[in-house]
Amino acid sequence: MLRCHWPRRPGRVRLPRFRSQKAHSLAMTAPENDPLAARDRAVLIHSLHNRALQQHPHIWTRGQGALLWDQTGQEFLDGLAGLWNVIAGHGRQELANAAARQMSELAYASAYAGCSSQPAIELGERLAGLFYPGIKKFFFTSGGAESNESAIKTARYFARLNGYPEKYKVIGRRWGYHGTTLAAMSATGIGSYWPMFEPRVPGFLHIEGPYPYRFNAAPRGPDDQRTPGEMAADLLEEAIVREGPDTVAAFLGEPVQGAGGVIVPPDDYWPRIRQICDRYKVLLIADEVITGFGRTGPWFALERYGIEPDLVTFAKGITSGYFPLGGVGLRSDIADAIDAASGPQTWMHAFTYSGHPTGCAVALANLDLIEREGLRERAAELGQRLLTGLKSLAGHPHVGDVRGLGLMAAVEFVADKGTKAEFPTERAIGTKVHEATQRRGLFTRLRGDVFNLAPCYVTTDAQIDRIVSILGDSIDEVLGK
Ligand SMILES: Cc1ncc(COP(=O)(O)O)c(C=O)c1O
Repeated sequence: MLRCHWPRRPGRVRLPRFRSQKAHSLAMTAPENDPLAARDRAVLIHSLHNRALQQHPHIWTRGQGALLWDQTGQEFLDGLAGLWNVIAGHGRQELANAAARQMSELAYASAYAGCSSQPAIELGERLAGLFYPGIKKFFFTSGGAESNESAIKTARYFARLNGYPEKYKVIGRRWGYHGTTLAAMSATGIGSYWPMFEPRVPGFLHIEGPYPYRFNAAPRGPDDQRTPGEMAADLLEEAIVREGPDTVAAFLGEPVQGAGGVIVPPDDYWPRIRQICDRYKVLLIADEVITGFGRTGPWFALERYGIEPDLVTFAKGITSGYFPLGGVGLRSDIADAIDAASGPQTWMHAFTYSGHPTGCAVALANLDLIEREGLRERAAELGQRLLTGLKSLAGHPHVGDVRGLGLMAAVEFVADKGTKAEFPTERAIGTKVHEATQRRGLFTRLRGDVFNLAPCYVTTDAQIDRIVSILGDSIDEVLGK
């Protein structure tokens, strides 16, 4: 018998209509009475749980290179490298071997104060050589949200340590995605993540992001010569001034917004953000959970703009997803302040799996592999090919925007190209295009009617071309030619 301990009070929570992934019966490949799917439904609650999607799930069984197979035996091009993380591709024996070796020797060791392990030390040393020059020390976590929680807490800690306990607010951006733990969710700027988990953590606010296709700021007057990138950056200054500079600890942003729709900022955006953060002593936290480890070309994405963040969060690509590992890179004086503190000022922040030796060993093997095979350089070439291919779809009357940087790209579908009007949510255009691509053997994720792509760095040229042709055919099928 189903029992609800709290009787429902109808109509108490007003929810927005989500533009997320809905299930449509025609698209799914799993048979109606798939026994594995039934067992899944009996025992699992999934991330972003959606009962309808779980009627015909892909139960992934095998991966090789840029390809995945599900329980029906159907082959798919992995358009999102897992969840933006499997950068070295599936089926890499070296990474499995690194894990097995480390597990056989010392599977787990605490990294709490007073303890450490050799793989963690070696990974820290390795990262110190890859990161921004001002960042030489690292705290490890199990993933992206934990990394952002850690960075946000560190920003508050640093302000307190310097005598500013009221300097605790964090400014994020619309369409920013930072994970779903409470503070990371509060920093996330995609509203559909909030309503059923309110109230959010106090002190989090959002500004518009630099979304070239949709950013629409009014100039301050006839003499206002600022570019759109500068205007978007100045929204940060306006927010800091409005809130009071002594109340704002940090600005948190992805160098290129990923899950929110691969939003690539104009080149003059980040340098101005850096200046504003410096002006008001606000820490700049770069969420490089997707962009880290070469996704946009350089090891870390803000290198492109010639600036350095104060804290950098990373995860995903560091192990190519073969083991859950993330972390925070800290500006040297912030790390030194933590190092020097004691007693009641101790940095009381910790995770059981921080510095997990197996994760660190896998990360080291993964970095070896990326360097040995020149995968970052290859990703940059593939990114060019992907973007050029996708641009060939831009003539379609409902392809409003095609954008990308490095090996991450998005195609945005619109009802009217002239006005950039979106399709009504109920038409679920993005979902229908995604279903059509799945029938043709391409799997990825969406943000509403924005089709995101971030393939593995080992995808072949022919597979990149196939991604483009599958998407083109699917758009024609759903939206006509
Ligand atoms: C930019 C960014 N930050 C943080 C996260 C959260 O990472 P995790 O799911 O490992 O907590 C993600 C996940 O997609 C992400 O894309």
